[in-house]
This record gives sequence, C-alpha cells and structure tokens, in this order.
Amino acid sequence: MFRLSQYSTLLALSTRALALPSLVTRVATRISDSQLASYAPFTQFARAAYCPSSKISPWNCGEACSSSENKDFQTKLVGGDGNAIQLYYVGYWPTQNAVVVAHQGTDPYKLSADLTDFRFFWKNLNSTLFPGVPSDVFVHGGFAEEHVKTATTILDTVKALLSSSNASTVISIGHSLGAALAELDAIFFTLNLPGVYVKSVTYGTPRVGNDKWAGLFDARVPDFVRINNMKDPVPTLPYEFLGFHHPHGEIHLAGPGEAYSCPGDDDATDSECTISQVLTPLQWNVDDHNGPYEGISIGTAWCN
Ligand SMILES: *[C@@H]1O[C@H](CO)[C@@H](O)[C@H](O)[C@H]1NC(C)=O
Ligand SMILES: *[C@@H]1O[C@H](CO)[C@@H](O)[C@H](O)[C@H]1NC(C)=O
Repeated sequence: MFRLSQYSTLLALSTRALALPSLVTRVATRISDSQLASYAPFTQFARAAYCPSSKISPWNCGEACSSSENKDFQTKLVGGDGNAIQLYYVGYWPTQNAVVVAHQGTDPYKLSADLTDFRFFWKNLNSTLFPGVPSDVFVHGGFAEEHVKTATTILDTVKALLSSSNASTVISIGHSLGAALAELDAIFFTLNLPGVYVKSVTYGTPRVGNDKWAGLFDARVPDFVRINNMKDPVPTLPYEFLGFHHPHGEIHLAGPGEAYSCPGDDDATDSECTISQVLTPLQWNVDDHNGPYEGISIGTAWCN
C-alpha cells in the first residue's frame, strides 16, 4: 500500500481541467427561504446520529432532539459503537408519518485523507441484499462493507415499524460517511420494500459509486437531496477520474440563507455548484464539512 495523494491531486486537476469545456450548460437555481428552512429537521436528525445511544434511545440529546418538528420522534432501535460500526438509529417520526433511519459520519480530516488515496477497491452490491442490481454497478468497497454490517438488522426494524405505525414512507439520513450509508440505504430500501415511498436527505456526501450506480440511483430514488456546504472537499471525493460519479440532487450552500439547486448529476457547470467552487485543494476548507448547515453544525462536538 502506498500513498499517492499528491500525485492523485494533480491528476484530478488535469482531468477536471480537460473535462471543463462541456457542451451542456446546466444552470443552478436559487432555493427559496422556505424550502431551505424545510431541511432543518433533517439536519437535526443527521446531527443526532453523532450522539451516544444512551441519549438517542430516550430521544433526549439536547437541541438535535428537541426542535419543534422532531421532538415527537420515537426511537425503536439504536446500534453501532461509533468505532468498528458507525452509530445509527431507527424510529418513527409522527410529524411526517415516516420511518427515519440515520447514520453517524466520521471525522472530516480522516475521511478526506482516506478518500484521496488509492487504497480503495470497487465492489458489486451483494445480490442478496440488493436483488436485481446489474453487475456493472460498482460502489466503493469500504462503504459497501460498512453498509452490510447493519443492513439486515435495520431493514427488519424498518419493516416492523412500517406495519406497526401505518407509515408508508422511509427516510434515510446521514452526514459524511453516514451520508454514503444513507445513499446506499435509499436503493436498499427501494429494492426491498416494494410499494414504500423512499426519500433521502444527506449532508457532505462523498461519491459512492460509478456512473452506473448514479444512473440506477437517478432512476429509482427521485426524492433525494445531498446538501453540500461551502468549500467542503468531501463531495469532490473520491475523484471523478477514478470513475466515481454522484447521482442527482445537489444543493449547494453558498452562505447563510443562500443556497442553489444544482441540476444534473455531478455536471452542473454553474459557478454556484460544488464542482466549480471546490476545484482544487487550494480551495478546500475541510472545516466546512461540519457546517454550519443553515446554522446547524454536525459532528461529534455538536451533540449538545
Ligand atoms: C450477502 O449478504 C447476505 C445477507 O447479509 C450474506 O449472508 C452473504 O454472505 C453476503 N454475500 C457476500 C458474497 O458477501
Ligand atoms: C392508515 O393509513 C391509511 C391511509 O393513509 C388511513 O386511511 C388509515 O386511517 C390509517 N390508519 C390508522 C390506524 O391510522
């Protein structure tokens, strides 16, 4: 195993520079204040995923558990240890008559270091867990291996909640590594819960898979947003030149109260979107990964 971070950075720059003269012009649109505000409860759910299980079980984790929209949440399952297995929780959200599944993320400096070197491998999705997915769909092996650790336990709980609560919607939520897991969950639930409406809201999401993954996701999970903050580098990783592609759904926060919906997948040419704003490591601000996402920071330090 050797690290080629510097070299890969240079390569990324050159491929991006070559790719820029695109024939398709995709222009971002400014998001209204009310739409932007509507994401706040999801942001709090993503933030709560960093809180210890002892606070999530009773749904008593400070601000993240006590907003007017989410304080009625009823936790059904908590798991993970924040180390070998990311923390997660599953429960019923009466306000939206929905089942929520949220995953913890990880330290942004560690994640961006992990995702800028070549120590990754492609993996097909497990055909038992992801029935019917074509064999040309590949995802980052590390994300797939993390996902499989908890997938069956979470799905069983989701099924139980769907039948006991009368909900017919499942929402997957996460930040950072947890965002990658939530993106995998969105397809996982879509394939395993026919007739159930699947929605997903993620924050600081890295690229999860190849172009076939992005195509599958675009076709099967229309109700998806991935919210990127300012100059966070994580959404630009792993690099495109290695074959990674985002699905649709980018919302880019440019500053307080100012956000843009970026059309297409990873190919908006608009200067307001991450791909244009975070072009080279000179523009990175790793601290932006933790937010604030419209006033709400997400990470281990913000469970209070
Ligand atoms: C796929 O997932 C199932 C269910 O978790 C597991 O039993 C099986 O071993 C997995 N297959 C591979 C090839 O990892
Ligand atoms: C369950 O949902 C259906 C459809 O929304 C509704 O007609 C029914 O009254 C609900 N039942 C309960 C017990 O809430």
